[in-house]
Amino acid sequence: MPVTISDVRAYKAGGDRFAMLTAYDAPSARLLDEAGIPLILVGDSLGMVVLGHATTLPVTMDDMLHHTAAVARATTNALIVGDMPFMSYHASEDDAVANAGRFLKEAGAGAVKLEGAGRVTELVARLTSSGVPVMGHLGLTPQSVHQLGGWRVQGRGEEAAEIILAGAKDLEAAGAFALVLEAVPAALAAQVTSSIEIPTIGIGAGPACDGQVLVFHDILGLSAGVAPRFVKRYADLGEQIRIAARAFAEEVADGTYPGPEHTYR
Ligand code: KIV
Repeated sequence: MPVTISDVRAYKAGGDRFAMLTAYDAPSARLLDEAGIPLILVGDSLGMVVLGHATTLPVTMDDMLHHTAAVARATTNALIVGDMPFMSYHASEDDAVANAGRFLKEAGAGAVKLEGAGRVTELVARLTSSGVPVMGHLGLTPQSVHQLGGWRVQGRGEEAAEIILAGAKDLEAAGAFALVLEAVPAALAAQVTSSIEIPTIGIGAGPACDGQVLVFHDILGLSAGVAPRFVKRYADLGEQIRIAARAFAEEVADGTYPGPEHTYR
C-alpha cells in the first residue's frame, strides 16, 4: 500500500521511528522502494550530489520536475516529496502555489518541501488549504547558506533556539505534515519534537527526532569530499564501482571480454 501523509503522522502517534532517503533517478528510487523506505525525498541536494554545483541555489524547477518524475515512475509504495528549489516560492505567492502544484500534477510527487518559517508559513497555510501536503525544513536551510554565513549548526543559544521552536509551532499550525530539522543541537531537536504533534525528521539533529533523513550518495559512499559529522556510510559503492570499472577495462585490454557467452552467433 502506498504510504500516505496520514501514515507519516501515525508513525509519530504510534512511536514508530522512520527513515527518509533522497533519490534523484529511477534506479535508485526503485531500490529504496524495494527496501521498504517509506519516504523518498527528491531533494534539491540534487544540485550538489548529482549536477556538480557547489550549492543548491542553481537548481531550477525544470531540474526538480525532471528528476521527481523519474523517481515517481520507479516507485510503488514510498511517499515522494519534491523539494521546491531556491526562488520557486519566494517571488510571489501565486507563483509558489503554481510551482508546488506542478510537483503533484506533472511530476507525480505526493508532497512538497519548503525551507524556512516566517513569511513561508503563510504560503504553507495556503498550500495545505489547497490540498498540497507540505513538509517544512528548519535549522540549517541550505538555500539560505549565504545569509547564514556558511554550513553551520543553527539554533545555538537561547534566542536562536526560540526562533526555531516558534517556527516549528507555526508550521504545524499552518498545516505542515512533517518537519525536517537540519544541523541543530540534539537538545533543541528533542524540545521541538516533544512540542509539536507532527513528526520531526532529523539530519544532524540527534536521536530524539521521530525520523531520520540522509542523502543517498552519502550513505552509499558515492559522495566526494569530507562528509559532515552526521553522515554514516553504510556501504562503499564508490570503491565497488572503481573496482568494477578497472576490471572491465582490463578485460577489454586483454581480450577476455567479450567471451563466447556474450557474443551472438
Ligand atoms: O535537499 C535535500 O536533500 C534535503 C535533505 C538534506 C533534508 O533537503
